[in-house]
Amino acid sequence: MGMITSATRMWLTKSVKGFEFKNEYSNTLEYQDTKQLGLYVHIPFCKSICKFCPYCKEVYHTEKMNRYMDYLLKEIALVTQGQVKKEVSSLYFGGGTPALAIDRLGEVIDSLTSHFEITQGIGIELHPSNVTEKLLQKLSDIGVTKISIGIQSFQDKFLGILGRKENRFETMFDALQKVSFETVAMDFIFALPNQTFQDLQKDIEVAFSNGANHIAIYPFIDFGFLESGIQEFQKKEKRALLKQITDYCEERGYTRDSIWTFSKDGRASYSSMTRDNFLGFGASATTCLDEIFKINTFSVEEYINRLQSEQLPTSLTLDFTVRQRMIYYLFWKFYSMKVDCKEFQDFFNQDLKKIYGLELFFAKRIGFLTERDGVYELTEKGAFYYHHYEKYFTYDYINHMWGTMSKEAFPKQLNIK
Ligand SMILES: C[S@@+](CC[C@H](N)C(=O)[O-])C[C@H]1O[C@@H](n2cnc3c(N)ncnc32)[C@H](O)[C@@H]1O
Ligand code: SF4
Repeated sequence: MGMITSATRMWLTKSVKGFEFKNEYSNTLEYQDTKQLGLYVHIPFCKSICKFCPYCKEVYHTEKMNRYMDYLLKEIALVTQGQVKKEVSSLYFGGGTPALAIDRLGEVIDSLTSHFEITQGIGIELHPSNVTEKLLQKLSDIGVTKISIGIQSFQDKFLGILGRKENRFETMFDALQKVSFETVAMDFIFALPNQTFQDLQKDIEVAFSNGANHIAIYPFIDFGFLESGIQEFQKKEKRALLKQITDYCEERGYTRDSIWTFSKDGRASYSSMTRDNFLGFGASATTCLDEIFKINTFSVEEYINRLQSEQLPTSLTLDFTVRQRMIYYLFWKFYSMKVDCKEFQDFFNQDLKKIYGLELFFAKRIGFLTERDGVYELTEKGAFYYHHYEKYFTYDYINHMWGTMSKEAFPKQLNIK
Protein backbone atom coordinates (compact mmCIF):
# COMPACT_ATOMS: atom_id res chain seq x y z
CA MET A 1 0.00 0.00 0.00
CA GLY A 2 2.75 2.43 0.98
CA MET A 3 4.20 1.97 -2.47
CA ILE A 4 1.14 3.34 -4.23
CA THR A 5 1.05 6.58 -2.23
CA SER A 6 4.85 7.02 -2.34
CA ALA A 7 5.02 6.50 -6.09
CA THR A 8 2.12 8.89 -6.71
CA ARG A 9 3.57 11.49 -4.40
CA MET A 10 7.04 11.29 -6.04
CA TRP A 11 5.54 11.43 -9.50
CA LEU A 12 3.28 14.41 -8.78
CA THR A 13 5.69 16.40 -6.63
CA LYS A 14 8.56 15.49 -8.98
CA SER A 15 10.74 14.80 -5.96
CA VAL A 16 11.79 11.89 -3.74
CA LYS A 17 11.46 14.17 -0.74
CA GLY A 18 8.51 13.14 1.42
CA PHE A 19 6.33 15.33 3.61
CA GLU A 20 8.74 16.20 6.41
CA PHE A 21 6.93 17.41 9.50
CA LYS A 22 9.18 18.98 12.13
CA ASN A 23 8.50 19.87 15.72
CA GLU A 24 9.88 23.40 15.30
CA TYR A 25 7.17 26.01 15.24
CA SER A 26 6.62 29.71 15.04
CA ASN A 27 4.59 31.68 17.56
CA THR A 28 3.11 33.88 14.84
CA LEU A 29 1.01 32.78 11.88
CA GLU A 30 1.22 34.93 8.78
CA TYR A 31 -2.37 34.81 7.61
CA GLN A 32 -3.04 38.47 6.86
CA ASP A 33 -2.45 38.29 3.08
CA THR A 34 -3.92 34.82 2.65
CA LYS A 35 -6.81 34.56 0.20
CA GLN A 36 -9.88 32.37 0.75
CA LEU A 37 -9.29 31.78 4.44
CA GLY A 38 -11.63 29.64 6.58
CA LEU A 39 -11.69 29.01 10.36
CA TYR A 40 -12.01 25.72 12.25
CA VAL A 41 -12.40 25.13 16.00
CA HIS A 42 -12.01 21.67 17.56
CA ILE A 43 -13.80 20.63 20.75
CA PRO A 44 -12.39 17.22 21.75
CA PHE A 45 -14.96 15.92 24.24
CA CYS A 46 -17.65 13.26 23.90
CA LYS A 47 -20.10 11.71 26.36
CA SER A 48 -18.90 8.27 25.29
CA ILE A 49 -16.26 7.15 22.83
CA CYS A 50 -17.17 5.31 19.62
CA LYS A 51 -14.74 2.50 18.83
CA PHE A 52 -14.56 3.30 15.08
CA CYS A 53 -13.86 7.03 15.41
CA PRO A 54 -10.31 8.29 14.64
CA TYR A 55 -10.81 11.93 15.65
CA CYS A 56 -9.10 13.55 18.61
CA LYS A 57 -11.47 13.27 21.56
CA GLU A 58 -11.71 12.21 25.16
CA VAL A 59 -14.44 11.53 27.67
CA TYR A 60 -16.27 14.68 28.74
CA HIS A 61 -15.85 16.21 32.21
CA THR A 62 -17.38 19.61 32.85
CA GLU A 63 -14.36 21.05 34.62
CA LYS A 64 -11.86 19.81 32.09
CA MET A 65 -13.91 21.16 29.25
CA ASN A 66 -14.30 24.57 30.86
CA ARG A 67 -10.57 24.79 31.43
CA TYR A 68 -10.01 23.78 27.82
CA MET A 69 -12.40 26.50 26.63
CA ASP A 70 -10.45 29.13 28.62
CA TYR A 71 -7.28 28.13 26.79
CA LEU A 72 -9.01 27.93 23.44
CA LEU A 73 -9.81 31.62 23.89
CA LYS A 74 -6.19 32.18 24.78
CA GLU A 75 -5.01 30.47 21.57
CA ILE A 76 -7.34 32.69 19.51
CA ALA A 77 -5.95 35.76 21.31
CA LEU A 78 -2.33 34.71 20.65
CA VAL A 79 -2.88 34.00 16.95
CA THR A 80 -4.80 37.22 16.30
CA GLN A 81 -2.80 39.65 18.43
CA GLY A 82 -1.59 42.70 16.51
CA GLN A 83 -3.48 41.67 13.34
CA VAL A 84 -6.07 43.80 11.57
CA LYS A 85 -9.58 42.44 11.08
CA LYS A 86 -9.70 39.99 8.18
CA GLU A 87 -12.46 38.60 5.98
CA VAL A 88 -12.91 34.82 6.15
CA SER A 89 -15.39 32.58 4.38
CA SER A 90 -16.65 30.39 7.20
CA LEU A 91 -16.26 29.14 10.74
CA TYR A 92 -16.81 25.45 11.54
CA PHE A 93 -16.95 23.80 14.95
CA GLY A 94 -16.02 20.12 14.89
CA GLY A 95 -15.10 17.43 17.34
CA GLY A 96 -15.70 15.52 19.37
CA THR A 97 -19.09 16.85 20.31
CA PRO A 98 -18.94 20.66 20.27
CA ALA A 99 -22.52 20.97 21.54
CA LEU A 100 -21.25 19.88 24.95
CA ALA A 101 -19.68 23.34 25.14
CA ILE A 102 -22.87 25.13 24.11
CA ASP A 103 -22.69 27.65 26.95
CA ARG A 104 -19.19 28.71 25.92
CA LEU A 105 -19.52 28.74 22.11
CA GLY A 106 -20.92 32.28 22.09
CA GLU A 107 -17.70 33.53 23.72
CA VAL A 108 -15.61 31.78 21.07
CA ILE A 109 -17.72 33.25 18.29
CA ASP A 110 -17.49 36.74 19.84
CA SER A 111 -13.75 36.46 20.15
CA LEU A 112 -13.34 35.28 16.55
CA THR A 113 -15.75 37.82 15.08
CA SER A 114 -13.82 40.65 16.70
CA HIS A 115 -10.84 39.62 14.54
CA PHE A 116 -12.53 38.11 11.49
CA GLU A 117 -15.52 39.00 9.37
CA ILE A 118 -17.31 35.75 8.53
CA THR A 119 -19.06 36.01 5.15
CA GLN A 120 -20.58 32.55 4.57
CA GLY A 121 -21.92 31.50 7.93
CA ILE A 122 -21.10 29.32 10.91
CA GLY A 123 -21.37 25.51 10.98
CA ILE A 124 -21.32 22.93 13.76
CA GLU A 125 -21.21 19.13 13.99
CA LEU A 126 -23.81 17.54 16.24
CA HIS A 127 -24.47 14.11 17.70
CA PRO A 128 -28.15 13.11 17.19
CA SER A 129 -28.72 13.03 20.95
CA ASN A 130 -27.76 16.75 21.07
CA VAL A 131 -30.55 17.78 18.75
CA THR A 132 -33.31 19.21 20.91
CA GLU A 133 -35.37 22.31 20.23
CA LYS A 134 -33.64 24.09 23.10
CA LEU A 135 -30.15 23.41 21.78
CA LEU A 136 -31.05 24.34 18.21
CA GLN A 137 -32.56 27.59 19.42
CA LYS A 138 -29.37 28.42 21.35
CA LEU A 139 -27.27 27.67 18.27
CA SER A 140 -29.45 29.86 16.11
CA ASP A 141 -29.26 32.67 18.69
CA ILE A 142 -25.45 32.70 18.63
CA GLY A 143 -25.39 32.87 14.82
CA VAL A 144 -25.00 29.24 13.68
CA THR A 145 -26.38 28.82 10.14
CA LYS A 146 -25.37 25.23 9.26
CA ILE A 147 -25.60 22.04 11.26
CA SER A 148 -24.27 18.58 10.45
CA ILE A 149 -25.62 15.61 12.41
CA GLY A 150 -23.67 12.32 12.68
CA ILE A 151 -26.52 9.86 12.10
CA GLN A 152 -24.32 7.01 10.74
CA SER A 153 -27.46 4.90 10.17
CA PHE A 154 -31.11 5.03 11.16
CA GLN A 155 -31.19 1.26 11.54
CA ASP A 156 -30.66 -0.55 14.78
CA LYS A 157 -28.66 -3.39 13.21
CA PHE A 158 -25.96 -0.98 12.00
CA LEU A 159 -26.10 1.26 15.05
CA GLY A 160 -25.47 -1.92 17.03
CA ILE A 161 -22.39 -2.78 14.93
CA LEU A 162 -21.07 0.75 15.44
CA GLY A 163 -21.91 0.74 19.13
CA ARG A 164 -24.00 3.93 18.80
CA LYS A 165 -26.59 4.12 21.52
CA GLU A 166 -28.77 7.01 22.70
CA ASN A 167 -29.77 8.52 19.41
CA ARG A 168 -33.26 9.87 20.17
CA PHE A 169 -34.16 10.30 16.50
CA GLU A 170 -37.83 11.16 17.20
CA THR A 171 -36.85 14.10 19.43
CA MET A 172 -34.37 15.15 16.73
CA PHE A 173 -36.98 15.09 13.91
CA ASP A 174 -39.33 17.09 16.05
CA ALA A 175 -36.69 19.71 16.91
CA LEU A 176 -35.66 20.06 13.25
CA GLN A 177 -39.19 21.07 12.36
CA LYS A 178 -39.18 23.83 14.93
CA VAL A 179 -35.85 25.59 14.31
CA SER A 180 -34.55 26.06 10.80
CA PHE A 181 -31.03 26.40 9.42
CA GLU A 182 -29.69 27.19 5.97
CA THR A 183 -28.03 23.74 5.87
CA VAL A 184 -29.12 20.67 7.78
CA ALA A 185 -26.62 17.97 6.84
CA MET A 186 -26.69 14.35 7.98
CA ASP A 187 -23.68 11.99 7.94
CA PHE A 188 -23.95 8.29 7.13
CA ILE A 189 -21.38 5.54 7.03
CA PHE A 190 -21.72 3.01 4.22
CA ALA A 191 -20.22 -0.38 3.43
CA LEU A 192 -20.87 -1.73 6.91
CA PRO A 193 -21.09 -5.54 7.23
CA ASN A 194 -24.09 -6.89 5.26
CA GLN A 195 -25.35 -3.42 4.37
CA THR A 196 -27.35 -3.32 1.14
CA PHE A 197 -28.33 -0.58 -1.26
CA GLN A 198 -31.94 -0.81 0.05
CA ASP A 199 -30.68 -0.09 3.58
CA LEU A 200 -28.95 3.05 2.36
CA GLN A 201 -31.81 4.14 0.13
CA LYS A 202 -34.14 3.98 3.15
CA ASP A 203 -31.71 6.07 5.24
CA ILE A 204 -31.35 8.71 2.53
CA GLU A 205 -35.12 9.08 2.21
CA VAL A 206 -35.65 9.22 5.98
CA ALA A 207 -33.02 11.99 6.11
CA PHE A 208 -34.47 14.07 3.25
CA SER A 209 -38.04 13.73 4.48
CA ASN A 210 -37.19 14.73 8.05
CA GLY A 211 -35.42 18.02 7.69
CA ALA A 212 -32.07 17.30 6.01
CA ASN A 213 -31.19 19.16 2.81
CA HIS A 214 -27.67 17.76 2.52
CA ILE A 215 -26.17 14.29 3.17
CA ALA A 216 -22.66 12.89 3.45
CA ILE A 217 -22.13 9.20 2.78
CA TYR A 218 -18.69 8.15 4.01
CA PRO A 219 -17.24 4.73 3.27
CA PHE A 220 -16.44 2.93 6.50
CA ILE A 221 -12.69 3.08 7.18
CA ASP A 222 -11.05 0.71 9.59
CA PHE A 223 -8.26 2.85 11.05
CA GLY A 224 -5.38 0.59 11.98
CA PHE A 225 -4.56 2.45 15.20
CA LEU A 226 -8.06 1.75 16.56
CA GLU A 227 -9.53 -1.62 17.30
CA SER A 228 -12.94 -1.24 15.75
CA GLY A 229 -13.46 -4.97 15.10
CA ILE A 230 -15.58 -4.01 12.08
CA GLN A 231 -14.72 -5.53 8.70
CA GLU A 232 -14.45 -3.37 5.61
CA PHE A 233 -16.03 -4.25 2.24
CA GLN A 234 -13.95 -5.49 -0.68
CA LYS A 235 -13.24 -2.99 -3.48
CA LYS A 236 -15.65 -4.58 -5.98
CA GLU A 237 -18.59 -4.69 -3.59
CA LYS A 238 -17.91 -1.15 -2.46
CA ARG A 239 -17.78 0.12 -6.03
CA ALA A 240 -21.11 -1.54 -6.86
CA LEU A 241 -22.75 -0.05 -3.78
CA LEU A 242 -21.33 3.41 -4.40
CA LYS A 243 -22.56 3.31 -7.99
CA GLN A 244 -26.06 2.36 -6.89
CA ILE A 245 -26.12 5.21 -4.38
CA THR A 246 -24.87 7.82 -6.84
CA ASP A 247 -27.24 6.67 -9.61
CA TYR A 248 -30.11 6.75 -7.17
CA CYS A 249 -29.27 10.26 -5.92
CA GLU A 250 -28.84 11.53 -9.46
CA GLU A 251 -32.18 10.05 -10.59
CA ARG A 252 -33.87 11.77 -7.68
CA GLY A 253 -32.29 15.09 -8.66
CA TYR A 254 -29.94 15.33 -5.66
CA THR A 255 -26.78 17.21 -6.67
CA ARG A 256 -23.42 15.63 -5.96
CA ASP A 257 -21.34 18.51 -4.59
CA SER A 258 -18.33 16.51 -3.49
CA ILE A 259 -17.04 12.94 -3.59
CA TRP A 260 -19.14 12.00 -0.59
CA THR A 261 -21.93 14.56 -0.41
CA PHE A 262 -25.27 15.27 -2.05
CA SER A 263 -27.51 18.27 -1.72
CA LYS A 264 -31.30 18.03 -1.98
CA ASP A 265 -31.84 21.33 -3.73
CA GLY A 266 -28.33 22.09 -5.02
CA ARG A 267 -27.97 25.02 -2.64
CA ALA A 268 -27.13 23.58 0.75
CA SER A 269 -23.48 22.91 1.50
CA TYR A 270 -21.43 21.76 4.47
CA SER A 271 -17.73 21.34 4.25
CA SER A 272 -15.13 22.21 6.81
CA MET A 273 -12.30 20.79 4.72
CA THR A 274 -12.44 22.25 1.25
CA ARG A 275 -11.12 25.71 2.02
CA ASP A 276 -8.02 26.83 0.14
CA ASN A 277 -6.49 28.03 3.40
CA PHE A 278 -7.63 27.72 6.98
CA LEU A 279 -6.70 28.56 10.54
CA GLY A 280 -7.45 25.82 13.06
CA PHE A 281 -7.86 26.33 16.82
CA GLY A 282 -7.99 23.67 19.52
CA ALA A 283 -6.34 20.31 20.17
CA SER A 284 -5.51 18.45 16.92
CA ALA A 285 -6.69 21.35 14.75
CA THR A 286 -4.73 21.87 11.54
CA THR A 287 -3.81 25.14 9.88
CA CYS A 288 -3.01 25.38 6.19
CA LEU A 289 -1.60 28.60 4.76
CA ASP A 290 0.16 29.40 1.48
CA GLU A 291 3.48 27.97 2.64
CA ILE A 292 2.90 25.92 5.76
CA PHE A 293 0.75 23.19 7.20
CA LYS A 294 0.72 22.77 10.96
CA ILE A 295 -1.05 20.53 13.39
CA ASN A 296 -1.75 21.15 17.06
CA THR A 297 -1.02 18.62 19.76
CA PHE A 298 -3.70 15.96 20.34
CA SER A 299 -3.14 16.07 24.12
CA VAL A 300 -5.56 18.36 25.94
CA GLU A 301 -3.18 18.56 28.91
CA GLU A 302 -0.20 19.60 26.76
CA TYR A 303 -2.39 21.97 24.76
CA ILE A 304 -3.15 23.82 28.00
CA ASN A 305 0.47 23.68 29.21
CA ARG A 306 1.80 25.30 26.05
CA LEU A 307 -0.75 28.09 26.17
CA GLN A 308 -0.06 28.72 29.85
CA SER A 309 3.45 29.66 28.79
CA GLU A 310 2.15 31.95 26.03
CA GLN A 311 3.23 29.54 23.30
CA LEU A 312 1.15 28.14 20.47
CA PRO A 313 0.22 24.45 20.93
CA THR A 314 1.69 23.44 17.55
CA SER A 315 3.00 19.90 17.52
CA LEU A 316 4.28 19.53 13.95
CA THR A 317 4.91 21.88 11.03
CA LEU A 318 5.47 21.15 7.37
CA ASP A 319 7.10 23.78 5.16
CA PHE A 320 5.50 23.05 1.83
CA THR A 321 7.51 22.86 -1.37
CA VAL A 322 5.55 24.54 -4.17
CA ARG A 323 4.71 21.17 -5.73
CA GLN A 324 3.55 19.75 -2.41
CA ARG A 325 1.28 22.75 -1.96
CA MET A 326 -0.09 22.19 -5.46
CA ILE A 327 -0.84 18.54 -4.75
CA TYR A 328 -2.55 19.43 -1.50
CA TYR A 329 -4.60 22.08 -3.32
CA LEU A 330 -5.58 19.71 -6.14
CA PHE A 331 -6.46 16.91 -3.73
CA TRP A 332 -9.08 19.04 -2.00
CA LYS A 333 -10.31 20.67 -5.20
CA PHE A 334 -10.92 17.29 -6.79
CA TYR A 335 -12.70 16.29 -3.59
CA SER A 336 -15.28 18.89 -4.54
CA MET A 337 -15.29 17.31 -8.04
CA LYS A 338 -13.94 20.30 -9.99
CA VAL A 339 -10.69 22.11 -10.67
CA ASP A 340 -10.81 25.48 -12.37
CA CYS A 341 -7.60 26.44 -14.22
CA LYS A 342 -8.28 30.12 -13.58
CA GLU A 343 -8.54 29.62 -9.83
CA PHE A 344 -5.30 27.62 -9.89
CA GLN A 345 -3.63 30.45 -11.80
CA ASP A 346 -4.90 33.00 -9.22
CA PHE A 347 -3.68 30.90 -6.31
CA PHE A 348 -0.24 29.89 -7.60
CA ASN A 349 0.41 32.41 -10.33
CA GLN A 350 1.21 29.45 -12.57
CA ASP A 351 -0.54 27.68 -15.42
CA LEU A 352 -2.03 24.33 -14.34
CA LYS A 353 -1.77 22.91 -17.86
CA LYS A 354 1.92 23.73 -18.08
CA ILE A 355 2.57 21.91 -14.82
CA TYR A 356 0.22 18.95 -14.91
CA GLY A 357 -0.86 19.01 -18.59
CA LEU A 358 0.33 15.47 -19.28
CA GLU A 359 -1.30 13.95 -16.20
CA LEU A 360 -4.57 15.77 -16.93
CA PHE A 361 -4.44 14.64 -20.56
CA PHE A 362 -4.10 10.98 -19.52
CA ALA A 363 -6.77 11.33 -16.85
CA LYS A 364 -9.10 12.58 -19.60
CA ARG A 365 -8.09 9.78 -21.97
CA ILE A 366 -8.87 7.05 -19.45
CA GLY A 367 -12.21 8.59 -18.61
CA PHE A 368 -11.48 10.04 -15.14
CA LEU A 369 -12.02 13.66 -16.13
CA THR A 370 -13.88 15.87 -18.56
CA GLU A 371 -12.79 19.38 -19.48
CA ARG A 372 -14.95 22.33 -20.42
CA ASP A 373 -13.99 25.99 -20.59
CA GLY A 374 -10.87 25.46 -18.51
CA VAL A 375 -12.69 23.51 -15.79
CA TYR A 376 -11.80 19.86 -15.15
CA GLU A 377 -14.55 17.75 -13.64
CA LEU A 378 -14.37 14.22 -12.23
CA THR A 379 -16.51 11.63 -14.00
CA GLU A 380 -18.30 8.90 -12.08
CA LYS A 381 -15.36 6.60 -12.83
CA GLY A 382 -12.91 9.28 -11.73
CA ALA A 383 -14.86 9.82 -8.51
CA PHE A 384 -14.75 6.10 -7.75
CA TYR A 385 -11.00 5.96 -8.23
CA TYR A 386 -10.56 9.12 -6.18
CA HIS A 387 -12.60 7.38 -3.48
CA HIS A 388 -10.45 4.29 -3.81
CA TYR A 389 -7.15 6.17 -3.90
CA GLU A 390 -8.22 8.33 -0.99
CA LYS A 391 -8.37 5.15 1.08
CA TYR A 392 -4.64 4.54 0.52
CA PHE A 393 -3.96 8.13 1.41
CA THR A 394 -6.01 7.73 4.58
CA TYR A 395 -4.17 4.55 5.58
CA ASP A 396 -0.68 5.77 4.79
CA TYR A 397 -0.95 9.41 5.79
CA ILE A 398 -3.82 10.05 8.16
CA ASN A 399 -3.64 6.72 9.96
CA HIS A 400 0.12 7.13 10.42
CA MET A 401 -0.09 10.74 11.53
CA TRP A 402 -3.12 10.48 13.81
CA GLY A 403 -1.91 7.16 15.22
CA THR A 404 1.40 8.78 16.21
CA MET A 405 -0.17 12.01 17.43
CA SER A 406 -2.71 10.22 19.59
CA LYS A 407 0.19 8.53 21.45
CA GLU A 408 2.77 11.33 21.55
CA ALA A 409 1.94 14.98 22.28
CA PHE A 410 5.04 16.36 20.56
CA PRO A 411 6.74 13.82 18.27
CA LYS A 412 10.30 14.85 17.30
CA GLN A 413 9.46 14.62 13.64
CA LEU A 414 7.23 12.72 11.29
CA ASN A 415 8.16 11.77 7.75
CA ILE A 416 5.50 10.73 5.37
CA LYS A 417 7.15 9.14 2.38
C1 LIG B 1 -16.28 14.00 14.12
S1 LIG B 1 -17.29 12.78 13.47
C2 LIG B 1 -18.89 12.91 14.25
C3 LIG B 1 -19.61 14.03 14.82
C4 LIG B 1 -20.45 13.71 16.07
N1 LIG B 1 -19.58 13.71 17.20
C5 LIG B 1 -21.18 12.40 16.04
O1 LIG B 1 -20.70 11.41 16.58
O2 LIG B 1 -22.29 12.35 15.53
C6 LIG B 1 -17.65 13.25 11.82
C7 LIG B 1 -18.11 12.10 10.93
O3 LIG B 1 -17.04 11.28 10.50
C8 LIG B 1 -17.55 10.02 10.10
N2 LIG B 1 -16.67 8.96 10.59
C9 LIG B 1 -16.15 8.81 11.82
N3 LIG B 1 -15.40 7.69 11.89
C10 LIG B 1 -15.43 7.10 10.67
C11 LIG B 1 -14.84 5.91 10.11
N4 LIG B 1 -14.09 5.10 10.84
N5 LIG B 1 -15.10 5.66 8.80
C12 LIG B 1 -15.87 6.48 8.07
N6 LIG B 1 -16.45 7.59 8.54
C13 LIG B 1 -16.23 7.92 9.81
C14 LIG B 1 -18.93 9.88 10.70
O4 LIG B 1 -19.92 9.86 9.71
C15 LIG B 1 -19.04 11.10 11.57
O5 LIG B 1 -20.34 11.58 11.67
S1 SF4 C 1 -18.15 9.57 16.38
FE1 SF4 C 1 -18.70 11.48 17.39
S2 SF4 C 1 -19.44 10.87 19.44
FE2 SF4 C 1 -18.35 9.12 18.60
S3 SF4 C 1 -16.28 9.36 19.44
FE3 SF4 C 1 -16.29 10.29 17.38
S4 SF4 C 1 -16.68 12.41 17.74
FE4 SF4 C 1 -17.26 11.33 19.62
